[in-house]
Amino acid sequence: MDYFNYKDNELYAEDLKVSSLVQEYGSPLYIYSKATLVRHMRAFEEALAGKKHLICYAVKANCNLSLLSLMKSLGAGFDVVSEGELRRVLKIGADPKKVIFSGVGKTRAELTLAVKSGIGCINVESEAELKLLSKICAELKCPAQVALRVNPDVDAKTHPSISTGLKGNKFGIAAEDAFALYQQVAADPYLQVSGIDCHIGSQMTSNGPIAEATEKLLSLYGKLEQAGILVDHIDIGGGLGVTYNDETPPSPYEYMAAVLKRVGGRDVSIYVEPGRAMVANAGILACSVLYLKQTATKNFCIVDAGMSDLIRPALYNSWMNIVECRKSNDPKILCDVVGPICESDDFLGRDRKLAVQQGDIIAVRGAGAYGMSMASNYNARRLPCEILVDGSAVEVIRRRQDFEDLWAQERQLAFDAEGKLLHP
Ligand code: LLP
Repeated sequence: MDYFNYKDNELYAEDLKVSSLVQEYGSPLYIYSKATLVRHMRAFEEALAGKKHLICYAVKANCNLSLLSLMKSLGAGFDVVSEGELRRVLKIGADPKKVIFSGVGKTRAELTLAVKSGIGCINVESEAELKLLSKICAELKCPAQVALRVNPDVDAKTHPSISTGLKGNKFGIAAEDAFALYQQVAADPYLQVSGIDCHIGSQMTSNGPIAEATEKLLSLYGKLEQAGILVDHIDIGGGLGVTYNDETPPSPYEYMAAVLKRVGGRDVSIYVEPGRAMVANAGILACSVLYLKQTATKNFCIVDAGMSDLIRPALYNSWMNIVECRKSNDPKILCDVVGPICESDDFLGRDRKLAVQQGDIIAVRGAGAYGMSMASNYNARRLPCEILVDGSAVEVIRRRQDFEDLWAQERQLAFDAEGKLLHP
């Protein structure tokens, strides 16, 4: 459930009319609903009530500082996957103890910053990474909390591009190899065993895969316990899906219940790293219809947002719900909703039935996750503005880029007619 609803045939973000917001803040525009985010965070909290836990919001889904700050205020920790994400959460004053660092290719600089910041857990993904981390800790004479990300070889039954827990994926350490590596961690003077981690995929719409993965982690947990290696937490990663179209994912409560049922009375904290389930339906991308164009075979609804603003349809062929911001009884046309970018794959939706006219505002729903965080400057397009709505109040949380921002990091060399560099 979210707080983007129709009143008198007009789409509202909480108490504000989307078309008026676009008029004021420009197009394309990312609009987030605070009430929706709060609701999602509470749903995870309630799902884990009565069990020691930490909800680590997956920053990659949407890393806007204000949204991170909101999540922090609601008690969330953070799952980061790069130095940039780590610096973002440190910037908003997150408690380092509530930060965990995942990712298959952490650099020396990234591990060093993580160790120096004293973060809650580093999720190590290979033996080579473990060696480097051990070396860094010894050099700094600084301890680090470690979990091994286990690859449980479980099919998440999702889009292959976002499936991460199968043997053939680059992620994690094979369950068979993890035990020996845990012994290395336990014997290391600076490393401390903190947890067992996995993340098997994203946009999962059933409980089966996460239940199966939990069982595999628990079997390793048991083996470690027998060997006297005590684990403080089990991290089941992110992955809970949302409804873009007709998917019926479990609720956070049902999803976590499937995990908790298997964990039973074991004295262990449960960590979860939701990204999409937290923020996808808390955001829409509103944009304007530039032109309607009819060709011999198709109708095109050409809008001012494209794959540079929202790449999910182009990249994964994702179906995202596109709606008119003003509902009318005008006849609907069957059309492809496409952006202005010079790529044939630059589309937001194909074969949609929409009652739209030039100048209308439409919205892509479910765009809060992996929308702005995957946006680019392709075609020298400016990144859109982001606003946060709270009832009838609104705040800009990222201004639209200026054109100067597009080349701010570049140098402009000058050359003569022979192509020889002219010195300034
Ligand atoms: N933890 C780790 C280690 C991850 O790699 C991910 C997502 C998450 C947590 C959060 O997963 P979520 O709860 O959002 O499913 N760009 C793709 C999604 C890529 C997900 C990558 N990892 C998309 O737009 O569908």
